[in-house]
Amino acid sequence: MKIGIDKIGFYVPDLYLDMRKLAVAREIEPDKFTIGIGQEKMAVAPITQDAVTLAANAAASILDETDKENIDLVIFGTESGVDHSKAAAVYVHHLLGLNPAARSFEIKQACYGATAGIQMAKGHIALNPESKVLVLGSDIARYGLDSSGESTQGAGAVALLISANPRILALEDKSAYLTADIMDFWRPLYSSTAYVDGKFSNEQYSFFFANVWQQFKEKSSLTFKDFEALCFHLPYTKMGLKALKPVLEEGTSEDKERLLNHYQKSIGYNKVVGNIYTGSLYLSLLSLLEQKEKLTAGSRIGLFSYGSGAVGEFFTGILQPGYQKHLNTKQHTEMLAARREVSVAEYEVIFQQTLPIDGSSLLSETEKDSATICLAGIANNQRQYINKTAEK
Ligand code: CAA
Repeated sequence: MKIGIDKIGFYVPDLYLDMRKLAVAREIEPDKFTIGIGQEKMAVAPITQDAVTLAANAAASILDETDKENIDLVIFGTESGVDHSKAAAVYVHHLLGLNPAARSFEIKQACYGATAGIQMAKGHIALNPESKVLVLGSDIARYGLDSSGESTQGAGAVALLISANPRILALEDKSAYLTADIMDFWRPLYSSTAYVDGKFSNEQYSFFFANVWQQFKEKSSLTFKDFEALCFHLPYTKMGLKALKPVLEEGTSEDKERLLNHYQKSIGYNKVVGNIYTGSLYLSLLSLLEQKEKLTAGSRIGLFSYGSGAVGEFFTGILQPGYQKHLNTKQHTEMLAARREVSVAEYEVIFQQTLPIDGSSLLSETEKDSATICLAGIANNQRQYINKTAEK
């Protein structure tokens, strides 16, 4: 039985910052951000969006009534969760009106969370072929104003419907993974921004890729020639390339040309969104699939997932016939084009707007947010969510 990705939804907040303008404000050469890091724009989340609403908006864009009835497992991968106890998946389950006969929970291992969710979903469907699983990867990447990681922030969510007989990508069984207890990036419970050892994190990312690729070759006997394209977790769009290039030396010149050409296609959305942490790998997959050029059905795509701390995994999928018909390319292009640019001063104000943590209440102006599902504020220490469609 084939199991894999049947639908992919994506949501990005309706505000962005131009990386060149951020560079000028920080007295940095703009080419460092656009060429050295490889980022053009950075998504900015208003106070009316959090990990829950971003994910709910991404999922709402793909689910029909049959999906809502058949989903019996909701797995929410995030490292910017909103509660130490209650799972973000439960809020999303309610906001989308899913069948109550479902399991819903949250999973955390930095940017690896959604991948763990997908692998778990695959096992669940193998045992329950009629089931559909909603896997969510949703985050707001925050390092701090004028911090070393500021140029690699972003916000957004990806929603994946995993099922039997998937219409986009059938996942294969061979997979290679690695865990090591390292401190390259982390966020203590008391901090709203991440701590990072930037250079070490880059080195570890590359080390993990080389390691899981080597393991994968040994397990599968596949080599670069068996892959049409590779997609990477992209904290910034130069990172995957930095890890790939030295390892790709073992490939032929055709392998290099094909994989480097497709790499450029796989960074399109990430370049104008920034790091969305656990959804980033799947945003890269979406960039590859939603480009104009059609990939041949039956092609194999490799996926490298990396979550600091750290867990890495390399796994693969086979592109299904007619996959393009099941993508929402037009909607994604229009959503990105409709965003409003904010100035650096406006971004700095938005960055510092946070919900109170002293038990007081706050009501936000959700009319300014074009999203259907918004965070309306906090009252009685409870986040207040609204679905504008449901209220009409
Ligand atoms: N024109 C063109 N390129 C320029 C340039 C210019 N004027 N000035 C500098 N550059 C290039 C540099 O040569 C460098 O390129 P190479 O990496 O190819 O050598 C690149 O721009 C970046 O320069 P620096 O290394 O000096 O940049 P930095 O010290 O400001 O740090 C960073 C960059 C480490 C990514 C930092 O932004 C950071 O810490 N980000 C957060 C951590 C992160 O994203 N780590 C990635 C791996 S961890 C992970 O993947 C999990 C996750 O999601 C966080």
